[in-house]
Amino acid sequence: MNAVVQSPLPASPDATPADTAAAPRQLPLGTLPQPWHTIGRHAALAQLSHDERSRLDAAAHLNHFLAQQVVPAMRQRFEQAAAAKPPATRDEAWALLETDPRFAVWSRLRRGSMEARQRAAFEAAFRQREALAAACRDVVAAAGTLELDPDLTPPAYLADTHAHLMPGGYLASFGDDDVTAGAAYEASVYSVVPGRSGPYSDGAGRALARWIRTRFPSFSPRRILDLGCGVGLNTCAVAQAFPEAEVIGVDAGAGMLRYAAARAASLGITNVRWVQADIEHVPARLGPVDLAYTAIVLHETSHEALKNVFRRCHERLAPGGLTLHVEQPAYGDRPWFEQCMRDWDGRYNNERFWSHLYELDLRQELAGAGFAPARTFEDAVSAVPWNTDPRAPGRMEDYGRTGNWQVVGAWRDPA
Ligand SMILES: C[S@@+](CC[C@H](N)C(=O)[O-])C[C@H]1O[C@@H](n2cnc3c(N)ncnc32)[C@H](O)[C@@H]1O
Repeated sequence: MNAVVQSPLPASPDATPADTAAAPRQLPLGTLPQPWHTIGRHAALAQLSHDERSRLDAAAHLNHFLAQQVVPAMRQRFEQAAAAKPPATRDEAWALLETDPRFAVWSRLRRGSMEARQRAAFEAAFRQREALAAACRDVVAAAGTLELDPDLTPPAYLADTHAHLMPGGYLASFGDDDVTAGAAYEASVYSVVPGRSGPYSDGAGRALARWIRTRFPSFSPRRILDLGCGVGLNTCAVAQAFPEAEVIGVDAGAGMLRYAAARAASLGITNVRWVQADIEHVPARLGPVDLAYTAIVLHETSHEALKNVFRRCHERLAPGGLTLHVEQPAYGDRPWFEQCMRDWDGRYNNERFWSHLYELDLRQELAGAGFAPARTFEDAVSAVPWNTDPRAPGRMEDYGRTGNWQVVGAWRDPA
C-alpha cells in the first residue's frame, strides 16, 4: 500500500502502544494467527477496545487450534470409517462425519468463533458509528469518487441473508453517512482469515493481479470492473497493480461503499470509482471495460444472479476483453472429507448459495452467458504456498481460510 494514514479517531482509552504503532509488524505467514493490532491502518479503520481485540484474537486462535489439532483427528476417524463403507455422495459423507462426536464439538466451536468475531467487530463499529461517519464524510466528499444510487432496489437475497453471520448483512446502514457495515466487515475479515491475506486483507487481489501479469504479460487493461467490490480490499490491490487503469468497484451496500471510498482515499489510491448498483444489472452508462471480475463474491449470489452477472460481464466487455472470477476451488472429485470441510460454511455459517456454487462448472456457466467455450479456462491463484507452516510443512490448510483460490475466466471474442 502507499501512504498509511493514521486514524483521526480518538484511540480507545485502553489502547496499548501496539495499537498506535504506525507500521505494525506481521508474523511470518503460516505461523500463528496475526494479532488483530497488526492490521493495516488507515483513516476509516475502527478503533477496537482491549476486550474487542482480545475477543477477535481468541476466536482466531481457537480456530487455528481446531484446524491444526482437531481436524486431523476427525479426518483419520472419517477415513477409517469410509474405508469400511465408502460414501457414494457428499450427503452420505456428511452423514458419516456427523457420527463423530468430535465433529459436533469442532463445528459448535467453529460456529462460536465466527459468532464471537462478527459480534466483536460489529459492536466496535456500531459503538463509534458517529465518529466513523464524521471521519469518513469529508474524506469521501474531497475524493469525489463515490456514486450512490438512493433509488436502488437491492437484490432480495442480499437483504434476506446475513452471510457468514454478519450482523445486519451487507446492506445495513444507520444513517446518511453511515459506514458501520464496512468498518465491521474489514475488522472481522482480518480475524477470520486470520491476517493471512496481509495487513490490508488484499491477498486475493494481489494474487489475481500477479497471476494476470504472469499469465498474460501483454494484457494491459485500461478500464476494469470489480463486481461486488465490498469495501474494496481487493479492488485497491488491483488498482495499485494497474495504476494507469480506471477501476470501477460496484456493490449494492451503501455503507460498504462509503467506507471503501474513504479507505481508498486515505491510502492514497485515486484510480477507483465506487458505484452503487446491482451487479446483475450493471448500468450501461459505466461503458465498456477490458477486464470484468469478481473476487470471492459468487458464493454469496443465487444461481440466477450468477447467470446474470456472467451475462453482464459478456455484455460490458470490449471485444477481446477478459472476465475472471476468483473463488474457492470447486468440489469436483476432491476427497469426501475435504468436500465436507469446504462445505461447512454452506451448512453452518449462513452461506445459503455456497454448496451449490462449488458443484457448478463455471466454465460451462460462462459459455452459457455467451463466451466461446474454447476461450474459457481455469487455474489456481495462490496468495500463499499450499502448506505454509514452516515448522510443520505437512500440515494441511484451514479449508477456505488460507489464500488458495481458483480463477475461472474467459476472453470475449475479438471484434
Ligand atoms: C464477500 S464480499 C466480497 C467483497 C470483495 N470482492 C472483496 O474481495 O473483498 C461480497 C460482496 O458482494 C456484494 N454483492 C453480492 N451480490 C450483489 C449484487 N447482486 N449486487 C451488488 N453487490 C452484490 C455484497 O454486497 C458484498 O459486499
